[in-house]
Amino acid sequence: MGPRVGVIGAGVYGTTVLQAFSWAQRCDQIELAALAEINGDVLAKQAERFGLKGYQDYREMLQNENLDAVAIVTPDHLHREMAMACADRGVHMMVQKPLDVTTAGALAMVKAARDANVLLYVDFHKRFDPGHIQLRRDVRQGRLGRIQYGYVWMEDKIVVPSVWFRGWAQHSSPAWFLGVHFYDLLYWVLGAKPVRVTATGIKDKLVGMGIDTYDSIQAKIEYANGAHFSVDCSWILPESFPSIVNQGIRMVGSQGIWEVDSQDRGIVYAVEEDAGSVVPNYYANMERDDPLGGTYPAGYVIESMLWFLQLVSRLKQGAALAELAGLYPNGEEALVSTRLCEGIHESLAGGNAAVVEL
Ligand SMILES: NC(=O)c1ccc[n+]([C@@H]2O[C@H](COP(=O)([O-])OP(=O)(O)OC[C@H]3O[C@@H](n4cnc5c(N)ncnc54)[C@H](O)[C@@H]3O)[C@@H](O)[C@H]2O)c1
Repeated sequence: MGPRVGVIGAGVYGTTVLQAFSWAQRCDQIELAALAEINGDVLAKQAERFGLKGYQDYREMLQNENLDAVAIVTPDHLHREMAMACADRGVHMMVQKPLDVTTAGALAMVKAARDANVLLYVDFHKRFDPGHIQLRRDVRQGRLGRIQYGYVWMEDKIVVPSVWFRGWAQHSSPAWFLGVHFYDLLYWVLGAKPVRVTATGIKDKLVGMGIDTYDSIQAKIEYANGAHFSVDCSWILPESFPSIVNQGIRMVGSQGIWEVDSQDRGIVYAVEEDAGSVVPNYYANMERDDPLGGTYPAGYVIESMLWFLQLVSRLKQGAALAELAGLYPNGEEALVSTRLCEGIHESLAGGNAAVVEL
């Protein structure tokens, strides 16, 4: 019998998680048992769509359902309370990025999971992108020589903070919501921790729309191995941009250069019902036809979620948590990107471009 799994939060990204987990259930890998969602309308719709028992109170779900694992897919600043409750009940968890929006909160989550001996998986799916995997292999094998510098960009369309997350964008920022993906990826690729950061940011357009958060944040990061990286992130791209997210990474070492366009995978299409051309990232998430009927989701976004379920299955079959070390993006590793992100905001608060030691 596969693990019994629940989901907390059924908004934009919770739907992706539910699609991935439903597919795992169709493959007889798990039992997708229940959904907790505080919004009654969303709960009713999603519980029916995915055929799940629904709860408005996640604590009640944890109490009643005897779950092995839970995915936490609520707004950034709420992950912590749900993670603490899961640890309390000995439930394994996959937490969306960022782990928390404070280092102290993230530390408390890591400690709670460690004390309860439960899996704390942080859904950093950029580690599953084939381009990034090969980049890491080449860097770690020394093929680029000593990494000297690089550049990362990640930018969302303005619809994301102004419509999708209008209710909570002011509790997040382009660094917490977007940058953290690549702050984690840089640490994972380089194998070196950030030691110093300065950041500048601009609040303008979104504040003008009544949403008190940064439009854009630019960070200059120094790593323990001497490498320097600039990371730009923003969420104000116009509606006419052909992808929901623009993103990429490049780095230069003493013996080589690597560039990944993580947005433009060489595909563009235009159809009459859409306003303009679309540049899709099918590496991330795409719908495929299931030979046995229906469709299933695939791509690195889904792979990360299914990998979490595989690890939970191994634990259920008797593996020790320690045996899984190094196999997944864990809470301790997430502390690095959390602290960097916090340092970026300290630099901004210190008067734009203050130097922060990490
Ligand atoms: N990995 C990625 O690429 C990616 C992409 C988008 C979002 N995310 C992350 O996923 C998380 C959720 O984002 P989203 O896009 O789904 O946001 P969303 O606002 O669309 O959905 C969040 C849902 O959580 C529900 N919720 C809030 N408080 C709750 C509570 N106490 N109990 C139960 N449900 C509650 C809300 O009602 C809402 O339906 C965020 O942390 C976000 O950063 C990750």
